[in-house]
Amino acid sequence: MINIPKGTKDVLPTQSYKWQYIESAAREVARVYNLSEIRTPVFEHTELFRRGVGETTDVVGKEMYTFLDKGNRSITLKPEGTAGAVRLFIENGLSSQPSPVKTFYITPAFRYERPQSGRLREFHQFGIEIFGSPSPETDAEVIFAASSFLNKLKIKDVSLEINSIGCRICRNQYNQALKDYYRPHLDGVCETCRTRFETNPLRLLDCKEEDCKKIAQAAPKITDYLCPDCRAHFERLQDILTSANLPFKVNPRIVRGLDYYTRTVFEFVTDSIGAQGTVCGGGRYDGLVAQLGGPDTPAIGFAAGIERLMLLMDSVGAPFPDPPKISIYIAGMDDLTRLKSLEIAEQLRKNGVSCEIDHMNRSLKSQLKYADKLGAKYVAVIGSDELSSGIVNIKKMSDGSTASVKLQDICKYLKEEQL
Ligand code: HAM
Repeated sequence: MINIPKGTKDVLPTQSYKWQYIESAAREVARVYNLSEIRTPVFEHTELFRRGVGETTDVVGKEMYTFLDKGNRSITLKPEGTAGAVRLFIENGLSSQPSPVKTFYITPAFRYERPQSGRLREFHQFGIEIFGSPSPETDAEVIFAASSFLNKLKIKDVSLEINSIGCRICRNQYNQALKDYYRPHLDGVCETCRTRFETNPLRLLDCKEEDCKKIAQAAPKITDYLCPDCRAHFERLQDILTSANLPFKVNPRIVRGLDYYTRTVFEFVTDSIGAQGTVCGGGRYDGLVAQLGGPDTPAIGFAAGIERLMLLMDSVGAPFPDPPKISIYIAGMDDLTRLKSLEIAEQLRKNGVSCEIDHMNRSLKSQLKYADKLGAKYVAVIGSDELSSGIVNIKKMSDGSTASVKLQDICKYLKEEQL
């Protein structure tokens, strides 16, 4: 038999309600924050990610699913949602809409990483992207949206860490300081970091090799190099978060794994699911729209990994709702009564009542067993008596009580019962 590819997961029929629950929480947050859904293709031209996410990142350098299509074009499965959202914003002229343009998405993403708990090759993100506002109030709103998403799912075991990685002006000075610090350590860092030293010193802080991590610990902090504008922006954001009573920690080591960030970056992290503890990450990317050929447009967003959230919810015992149960099972005994069951079932379904009937020609006894297994809230048995009298006994499974109901009134009865 052919197995599922490494690093991917099936969603089973008994588990999909958990996905629907998380996705509906995401959609509800999007609704109250006035974010409109966007959908971009699963694949894009490779160039979009190379230029958008950055050549020196692990995501682009090592992890992309890239292939030539039959027309010899280089195509890449999206490793994240931001680059595609920016392309959509530019290509569809959304900059002519009143600012800010507030969007969200739920999307699969693909990274050729070494799979482990919380790290997959195909995973899913709920992300938001807000275009057009440079203000720290928007940074706060994006963080509030992420926080209320986690709250909605009753996830308590996460903390918010924020940082500012400055703009082009302060980054230049900081890169110099980083290079001065790393120069005497170059023999102790990995091959990739030696390249990063030349091409993108900020990425040195993002290396996952143990030796490199140790050296990164004593590196200069970006927050000591912020220009006055970036400093004021970062302080204002902290004031807003403080006055909203949203606890946070400034972590000057957060640089994020993607190159497009400017100023604010943030992560919601947890210790409860092992090494892959970042459940949600985001930040400002004021240069990206222009860099990809659009008008100069500040922007900010985040993405939360749905599989990681699910792991976290399972590990901290955050509640999922009960799996959905059918309202009524309608048993039939022979061709005629089965036909009537089917007719009643269709009528109920048209009226929004979930129901099930026999598909397998089971005996009445095993139909009742099956109804119990399905967790049906009510059971009705249509026999020849019920057909001739036009009246059926409906059994309420939670307490065993029964009610005599006209066949044509089953729907009315169930609706009244479930009020
Ligand atoms: P990211 O930090 O690369 O940011 O990914 C966001 C979230 O996706 C992570 O916090 C994690 O929960 C999940 N994630 C990432 N890689 C994996 C993986 N291999 N397996 C399972 N889950 C994973 C971004 O993608 C940015 N586009 C976020 C953003 C939006 N920044 C601004 N706007």
